[in-house]
Amino acid sequence: MTAVKDIGRFFNPRNIAIVGASKTPGKIGHEIVRNICLSGFEGGIFPVNPNANSILGLKCFKTLRDIPSEVDLALIVVPAELVEKIVQDCVDKHVPAAIIITSGFSESGHKELEDRILAIARSKLRIVGPNTFGIYYAKSKMNATFGPSKVLEGKTAFITQSGALGLALMDWTTEEKYGISSIVSIGNKSDVDDADLVEFFADDSSTKCLLIYMEGLKNGRNFFEASKRAVIKKPIVVIKAGRSARGAQAASSHTGSIAGQDTIFNAAFEQAGIMRAEEMTQAFDWMQAINENPVPRGEDLAIVTNGGGIGVLATDKCSELGLKLMDLPDDLKEELKECLPSFGSIRNPIDMTANADDVLYGKVLGILAKRKEVDGIIALFCQTANIDPMLVAQVIMTIRDQERLTKPLTCAFIGGHLSQLAYSRMLEKKFAAYPTAERAVDAMYALIARYRLLNSLELG
Ligand code: COA
Repeated sequence: MTAVKDIGRFFNPRNIAIVGASKTPGKIGHEIVRNICLSGFEGGIFPVNPNANSILGLKCFKTLRDIPSEVDLALIVVPAELVEKIVQDCVDKHVPAAIIITSGFSESGHKELEDRILAIARSKLRIVGPNTFGIYYAKSKMNATFGPSKVLEGKTAFITQSGALGLALMDWTTEEKYGISSIVSIGNKSDVDDADLVEFFADDSSTKCLLIYMEGLKNGRNFFEASKRAVIKKPIVVIKAGRSARGAQAASSHTGSIAGQDTIFNAAFEQAGIMRAEEMTQAFDWMQAINENPVPRGEDLAIVTNGGGIGVLATDKCSELGLKLMDLPDDLKEELKECLPSFGSIRNPIDMTANADDVLYGKVLGILAKRKEVDGIIALFCQTANIDPMLVAQVIMTIRDQERLTKPLTCAFIGGHLSQLAYSRMLEKKFAAYPTAERAVDAMYALIARYRLLNSLELG
């Protein structure tokens, strides 16, 4: 069996046993059963607890052995001293995959306990964890975590080495309307590691890009080899903690990771074609842009704005990131001149001035959308008294969805409550929308980076 097939059962199990399922609301062993039920998982759900007859209306089994059918995935939620025995039970019952939620292993100095478990499992049972909050996988309607029960479905697979951060982000992504195809809390990575997951998600049809929160790597070579193959199919964004010396120290005491020298990681990421985000917001901004846009066909960008100031800020950001604001061809300038006020600017940024209404946005964006020379559009809107931002949002949506925009577009709505509503609506409708010009430019940078990578692979 290949590694990918080996870990497929974590995501597509026909049934799940929860060993250490509890009747008591609030206990982890209870919340996991509840989440699996609430997420609409269609396979069998088998709680295991020697002291209960039923949990949340499901028949409860005394031991794994008592379950009358095969078990594809076992979730282990018993105290650390019992885990060895349960892992042996899994092997005896030929369970192929186990997620060990329990803490108290190598992360807290008990490596020998983790090693003993691995020795029992070796080649018969794949393990995620220990010390994990579980796996969410939208396609199988499986929320096998003790995190929030509601997660917004989307196209990003999120692999996290930090449990608390992952749990917090599960809630945050729903709040911020970023959809997730999967979340894997990778825990101590005793067996299944980043490389296995990168290989799995590279071929997963429900995932468009991968986001990894990483503190350190146990087997760097495997990870970078797997990533090099995967980035041809889909982008990988990594947030690697421990950029500073103090941060690296903190990472080491958090998960026992060897953070390694940051410059070495940087070089390796670059070589493998992995994009490194500096922080969470940037990573999600990039994801949003990549998930909701085609890859550009070139690097010639145009900025459209109703504010000179944000046009300048966006231009500065483009320079800082090495993005190219194209020189507009003369005939395009002529076309724009016809619809812009005389005091507007037909240079790039195209400044329609504060007089611009939704109709003018529609005209100018429509012109740029049809132009083959323009590879990407950054649309900026500063809230003014003369127009409801929602109307501008509507125009942008029409251009993408009804006029079938074939090039990437990122946009920013800058202003108060009404701008936030417009920006929020655009996120809901799956647009790369942001509350600042700089973030809209940075999001376009992610798309250009993807274009450059694919282009270099083609050329190379
Ligand atoms: N088979 C099945 N169930 C068993 C069992 C066995 N052999 N032995 C005991 N149980 C049951 C218990 O009866 C209990 O159920 P109950 O609540 O209905 O009585 C349940 O398993 C859990 O055992 P309990 O002793 O109550 O442990 P707990 O719930 O307090 O803690 C863990 C268990 C796994 C949650 C805890 O040890 C732990 O590791 N917590 C940290 C988890 C974590 O943070 N992970 C990382 C996240 S990023």
